[in-house]
Amino acid sequence: MQKTTVNSWNEWDPLKHVIVGRADDCHIPPAEPALDAKVPEDSDMRGQWGRRPQDTIDEANELLDAFAAQLTKRGIRVDRPTPINHALPATTPDFHTDSQFGCMPPRDVLLTVGSEILEATMSYRCRWFEYLNYRPLLQQYWEEDPNFRHEAAPKPRLTDADYHPDYLSDKIGTEKRLQWAAEKFFVTTEEEPLFDAADVLRFGRDLVVQHGFTTNLKGIEWLRRHFPDHRVHAVNFPGDPYPIHIDATFTPLRPGLILNNPGRRLPDDQRKMFEANGWEIKDAAQPAHNTPPPLCYSSTWLSMNVLVLDPKTVCVEASEVYQMEQMDRLGLEVVPVNLRGAYAFGGGLHCCTADVYREGSCEDYFP
Ligand code: NVA
Repeated sequence: MQKTTVNSWNEWDPLKHVIVGRADDCHIPPAEPALDAKVPEDSDMRGQWGRRPQDTIDEANELLDAFAAQLTKRGIRVDRPTPINHALPATTPDFHTDSQFGCMPPRDVLLTVGSEILEATMSYRCRWFEYLNYRPLLQQYWEEDPNFRHEAAPKPRLTDADYHPDYLSDKIGTEKRLQWAAEKFFVTTEEEPLFDAADVLRFGRDLVVQHGFTTNLKGIEWLRRHFPDHRVHAVNFPGDPYPIHIDATFTPLRPGLILNNPGRRLPDDQRKMFEANGWEIKDAAQPAHNTPPPLCYSSTWLSMNVLVLDPKTVCVEASEVYQMEQMDRLGLEVVPVNLRGAYAFGGGLHCCTADVYREGSCEDYFP
């Protein structure tokens, strides 16, 4: 078996080794402040919790296995996590919640920067122990790659002081939510550093981090101090009433080209660094669906949650016809992947993976 080298500096260099999540034993967790703030007010998720129905777990696993096989066939090494028992409660001296979440999606928890994989703090109580699903792999990488840096951000306490009580209502309404998003008033407070790995996009020397529900300013400052050789940029998208995880909002495809969700436009002042360096920010194509699948946390914009295999090749969900057409027009070869039946488990093609190795080194794209 080939030994591991951990190395990945951006979202588009040729992918050679990746982790793909599993749906085993995934749960809809019980109510808790950060999670409730994210569930859309008209969602079928409201008030539900418990183990996800077995037929949906089986279907999602079939799709994830098939995606893993598709990647393997293209010469990409694929590793899979080892699910812990997500039915167990999560209890610390500071909080208790009656179940956990799952080992999907890995992108939320693991941030690969160069030869480092960093376990994010996370901001939901039900996801506090989620890193344990990936520990067998990270231990293996540590044994095999003498340069691998396995890091974990300080575990947060996640007491009630981490959450603004104003968000603890299911009757806030979109108008108010949009006003709060524009004011950068999010559910998480600045009590302690919080970030999810899926709020971070890697552009070589630059890390672009979404300030929103799952990542606060202290989390961004923590990343800045942790990666002193990087420039860390906070971004926010005022058009998003439920701002978590950047990868259905802002999607770099190759050096010089980014797709932006047209309803969640990057504000002008934050576009400057891209435009000054000749990067084009294009509106993403519309999703092919009007609603997310049942029991799904995410929006229909998982259409733009694509996995770039190299600067000329991109995996797009197979039913997302408009997104596939747009990729084609942009000169990318499209690899269609069936994944919609796994969306409910936490996201699309970018979400359900985490980079281990992409060819290439740390470049400065914004000199
Ligand atoms: N905020 C996102 C999550 C995507 C991974 C959404 O549009 O649902």
